[in-house]
Amino acid sequence: MTYASQYQHSLEDPEAFWAHQAASIHWFREPDTILSKNDDGLYRWFAGGQLNTCYLALDYHVETGRGDQTALVYESPVTQSFQQFTYLEMLHETARVAGALKNLGVGKGDRVIIYMPMIPQVTFAMLACARIGAVHSVVFGGFAAHELALRIDDAQPKVILTASAGVEFDRIIPYKPIVDAAVGEARHQVEHVVVYQRWMHRAELSRPNEIDWNAWIENAQPAPCESVDSTDPLYILYTSGTTGKPKGIVRDNGGHAVALRYSMKQVYQVEPGDVFWAASDVGWVVGHSYIVYAPLITGCTTILYEGKPVRTPDAGAFWRVISAYRVKVFFTAPTGFRAIKKEDPEGELCKLYDISSLQRLFLAGERCDAATLHWAQHLLGIPVIDHWWQTESGWPMLVTPIENGEVMQIRAGSAGMPVPGFQVHILDAEANQVHAGVEGAVAIKLPMPPGCLPYLWRATDRFIEGYLSAYPGYYFTGDGGYQDDDGYTYITGRIDDVINVAGHRLSTADMEEIVAAHPAVAECAVIGMENELRGQVPLGFIVLKTGIMTEEALIEAELVSMVRERLGALACFRQAIVVKRLPKTRSGKILRRIMRHIVDRKPYQAPSTIEDWAVLEEIENICREKFAYNL
Ligand code: COA
Ligand code: AMP
Repeated sequence: MTYASQYQHSLEDPEAFWAHQAASIHWFREPDTILSKNDDGLYRWFAGGQLNTCYLALDYHVETGRGDQTALVYESPVTQSFQQFTYLEMLHETARVAGALKNLGVGKGDRVIIYMPMIPQVTFAMLACARIGAVHSVVFGGFAAHELALRIDDAQPKVILTASAGVEFDRIIPYKPIVDAAVGEARHQVEHVVVYQRWMHRAELSRPNEIDWNAWIENAQPAPCESVDSTDPLYILYTSGTTGKPKGIVRDNGGHAVALRYSMKQVYQVEPGDVFWAASDVGWVVGHSYIVYAPLITGCTTILYEGKPVRTPDAGAFWRVISAYRVKVFFTAPTGFRAIKKEDPEGELCKLYDISSLQRLFLAGERCDAATLHWAQHLLGIPVIDHWWQTESGWPMLVTPIENGEVMQIRAGSAGMPVPGFQVHILDAEANQVHAGVEGAVAIKLPMPPGCLPYLWRATDRFIEGYLSAYPGYYFTGDGGYQDDDGYTYITGRIDDVINVAGHRLSTADMEEIVAAHPAVAECAVIGMENELRGQVPLGFIVLKTGIMTEEALIEAELVSMVRERLGALACFRQAIVVKRLPKTRSGKILRRIMRHIVDRKPYQAPSTIEDWAVLEEIENICREKFAYNL
């Protein structure tokens, strides 16, 4: 079937299309309906169906003869260790963790927060929750205690699963003090904290509700798979929004499994038995979907990589892993490639490895600049495919399609064409579709296909208001973009207060909240500034209260450490600049977009409602001085 006919079919008869795809996974009970609406008028996929996502990822493969195949490779250059688990071994490990969770009273619908580094136990933990119908919420290890506390209060977990430490390059990051601080700050009382002790750093377990992981699972009986409803939540994954409060993206069981299985066939074109590697982190959606669930549901071998593209130990790290495990399809963020390019511009290290197994490279998580795309294409000599998606969608919405094994024309700067099931439209402010070449808001016509978020955790109103109200009949993605005459879509960036730092999605509103809490700060604006390595980095403009005598440099440094401590090092908030005033409209709205244009050296047109033109001049002068460029 051609891409065009498949896409057409998915739009003309979505129920028949997705009923067909649903037949490729094992249901304990077939769905009553393919697409329906719930009492809130929100779409639901496969209502009435019963299944278990862990069963699909593990038991099914063991039962159908794949038990001895490697399911998971753990590659950890930062600890110089590696391990492999067959599907049968994964099943044993996971079932025991599931049994241990049950012993703590965790059951269907209960939440479990997982705050762990990239070690095999994190995958056992996720799958164990799925096995007993508990809802996991993985929190990225780079988030600080306050962010973890926010998630604890929102998800209200019975149990937190963690490890004693993570490793960043050669730096040991103890996790337990972060968990302690978060548990102390949160209003919600967590019943138990289970800690996996790593050899490089042992955590002190001092309270009666703190449990050692190994002791915890030692005598646990393996737990069987619970049958859950298709529409039951599998996980909550928090992501940054336009306010300081993270949004709990919910993923259901049925739609998720069907969509991921389909994406492996259609988008990535991998088969059971293939080796698939997504070099991301389980704390992000890429890790949920393409390190854990999709490859395992498909019967692939997946790689859990505890390392970086560079300095672990060098810029040949990716090539070594691809060569060692004969990776067929590789997926990472453009930042990773920019880091390699910086350290090994001629790709000399790549030549040291046999990477002939590699057929395709997929990039996502942030805009891919043409220079990085061309460099990767030239280096690898294989199709390098930029594709676009977000935590909310859970799987790709745009990609350059592959037809009969051939990748259709790749256009630099474009994330490709809509994936079957997604009607990607570019809208103007009145929700009209714009012409080719005209930039607008990127929105998806409802219904979204299976796998996309059905609602926000305990915040259906926020879901409707934040995503469905701006353009009635559409889901608003928060991105801007345009399409060319042939339907290729170009994502130009967020049009809200979200920024993307090294593929990590962060909220500038969140950072503003932290900065504004400093006693010397009268007001502030945090914006995203283009950055050669990380795509974007945050930059704060600060106005001090009158009468503040403290040295500006001292306050700037304090603000940098406040963001690091409250949000986390991953924010890369390394620059705060004191200014006399912020540019505003006469009604008091801060002109953040104009400030972005100034720092990125882009032409801009200030609105006629601007309060004072001289303020823009001041910002321009500061940028000229600080960043040594001519505007
Ligand atoms: N736990 C604790 N700290 C973490 C962390 C984690 N899991 N992840 C990042 N951090 C810290 C880093 O140590 C760094 O701290 P520092 O300021 O003390 O140096 C800070 O957060 C910023 O991290 P990062 O921007 O990742 O910088 P880096 O120097 O550690 O690595 C790259 C740079 C380019 C190698 C890295 O960003 C990378 O591999 N990017 C690929 C992006 C990616 O995979 N994104 C996933 C989405 S698909
Ligand atoms: P996250 O939810 O963390 O996956 O971040 C999603 C956001 O990252 C999107 O809304 C986009 O702004 C950005 N993004 C992801 N993939 C791409 C891509 N291929 N091109 C441009 N932006 C992207």
